[in-house]
Amino acid sequence: MFYPYLIQSEDEYRRHYRQSVEDPEGFWSGVASHFHWRKKWDQVLNWNFEEPRVEWFVNGKLNITENCLDRHIKEGNGDVPALIWEPNDPKEPHRVLTYRDLLQQVNLFAEVLRIQGVRKGDRICIYMGMIPELAVAILAAARIGAVHSVIFGGFSAQSIADRVDDAGAEYIVTCDGAHRGSKEIPLKPVIDEAFAHCREVKKVIVFQRTGAEVFMKPGRDVWWHDEMRKVEYSGQMQVDAEEMDAEDMLFILYTSGSTGKPKGVVHTCGGYMVWAAYTFVNVFQYQSGEIHFCTADIGWITGHSYILYGPLCAGASSLMYEGVPTWPDAGRLWDIVKKHKVNILYTAPTAIRSLMSFGLEPIKDKDFSSLRMLGSVGEPINEEAWRWFYENIGQSNIPIVDTWWQTETGGIMISNLAGVTPHRPGWATLPLPGVQPVLLDDHGREVLSKDEDGLYKGNLCIKAPWPGILRTTYGDHERCRLNYFERFAGMYFTGDGAMRDEHGNFRITGRVDDVLNVSGHRIGTAELENAINMHHAVVESAVVGYPHDVKGQGIYAYVICADVVEDHHARRQEISVTVSKMIGSIARPDKIQFVQGLPKTRSGKIMRRILRKIAEGETDNVGDTTTLLDPLIVEEIRLNRIF
Ligand code: PRX
Repeated sequence: MFYPYLIQSEDEYRRHYRQSVEDPEGFWSGVASHFHWRKKWDQVLNWNFEEPRVEWFVNGKLNITENCLDRHIKEGNGDVPALIWEPNDPKEPHRVLTYRDLLQQVNLFAEVLRIQGVRKGDRICIYMGMIPELAVAILAAARIGAVHSVIFGGFSAQSIADRVDDAGAEYIVTCDGAHRGSKEIPLKPVIDEAFAHCREVKKVIVFQRTGAEVFMKPGRDVWWHDEMRKVEYSGQMQVDAEEMDAEDMLFILYTSGSTGKPKGVVHTCGGYMVWAAYTFVNVFQYQSGEIHFCTADIGWITGHSYILYGPLCAGASSLMYEGVPTWPDAGRLWDIVKKHKVNILYTAPTAIRSLMSFGLEPIKDKDFSSLRMLGSVGEPINEEAWRWFYENIGQSNIPIVDTWWQTETGGIMISNLAGVTPHRPGWATLPLPGVQPVLLDDHGREVLSKDEDGLYKGNLCIKAPWPGILRTTYGDHERCRLNYFERFAGMYFTGDGAMRDEHGNFRITGRVDDVLNVSGHRIGTAELENAINMHHAVVESAVVGYPHDVKGQGIYAYVICADVVEDHHARRQEISVTVSKMIGSIARPDKIQFVQGLPKTRSGKIMRRILRKIAEGETDNVGDTTTLLDPLIVEEIRLNRIF
């Protein structure tokens, strides 16, 4: 494949960046013209951040799966591996699906979906493990114009129920179970349990992965393999892709915010496609024939954009791994790199830190020679982890891209371009073409003066739309406006704090709102508190984050119980189980401290600043407590802090 929009030098980056700001419509029209459109757009961009309204490639018609699959086959690349799948168990054979194979599977499953009654615009929840059929289900939905909402396999029945109801989904695709490390994780039973908390759906299609015995409700639940076989016998092997408007919904992905339940971030077909492919090619500097390995789960945006849509639009070979980095041992990722001659490895700081904790033994005698570059995503990467990754995995001679972005941005926003613009430990560095970041103080004024370190520091906002920006939050546009476009008028507010140096490089410092980033997973403190409060004995709780060596941030919960807690250990366990049930085990608190009261202002607002300081161990200087209703409570909390 040849990518006419590939940036090949630092000068070219600067030129393209300038063009993208001075003439965004001309710039993006040029990039988009290299994709397959059934009908070209009438207008490149129509926007107003006040409403907010963003439309890219207005009236353009396309189907993203024709760009991900059919186009490559027509261009003679049908035999190129599209997905290389490495199973959890290293003894099980891996699978390779060429572009031709993948299209065939997608066509078959698209027909299955149609036969089951799925129509354009219908919502399908997908709750599966990391197997090729997950990719097939997603692409088949997109092929017939259905909207997919992938739910991460670690979420609980209650979380699934919330998402099914919020999206009004009528269809679910799942598996009997999933293999992850030494564990076998039930999936279909969790779906069954979810129906106790939400409306039942019309159909559940179940792929058999583990062979576990599962309940199948007649008339509602069908087996994937039975339905695929029927379509194969019928000879209906080709499904015409539905013609979609550029602004038709492609998917919903739920993510946590600072208030309430997770919200359904909506991405649309045209802009998201262009953004995912453009950023993939440029950040990773993808070259034909290379193997790209993104270790994320497809249940998160990173998997959507950089295991599936970005690489597939670019005709790349994407490696998908079912298991975890530490099983059967902490050398597994490196074995995969060698086995499949991986060229690009894109992972998360939390995975790097967890592998670091095993020392150098697991990397002794491994072969990293195929690697051309490394990437990091999901949270700020600390310098120690950066150096370990660079020296031990990159052998001190290949670039690392530190990519800052969000579920809402659809693709990478701020990052160096591998080998083209320089890397710098801890710094995401420069905005991609089309991205106009600005730092604002708490009053909404642009930060124009440097602080004592010679850096500009503030709230990270983006001034103008890029093709991959979220369009709405599903079913509640006002929530989208309030969350992202209200705090700073006329701007998209990221929720992150950042600093910029005089050369325009950015370093992201982390969330400035009440959102935690635990092992790269976004979890809202309000959502956590709601879950903890579901325990029958809990009266009130407050959750804050604290620095954690492996997870980046740990979850520290202060909990008031109605009774006198006798057995702290048992009560903590019960609360953890409650949180697991409400959200999923990723949200289990690391520390739970039972308290008599919480530090509140006279107006009843919890002073999280104080709780954060105590959780961080800064007990001597918690700041001003004079505005508190009951300053003595701080003393009690401080004395009983959990180490
Ligand atoms: O705080 C930032 C952090 O992750 C948040 C977005 O989380 P999510 O929507 O789950 O998407 C994660 C994968 C794109 C951001 O608001 N974050 C993400 N990447 C970085 C980062 N923080 C610092 N550096 C990064 N490279």
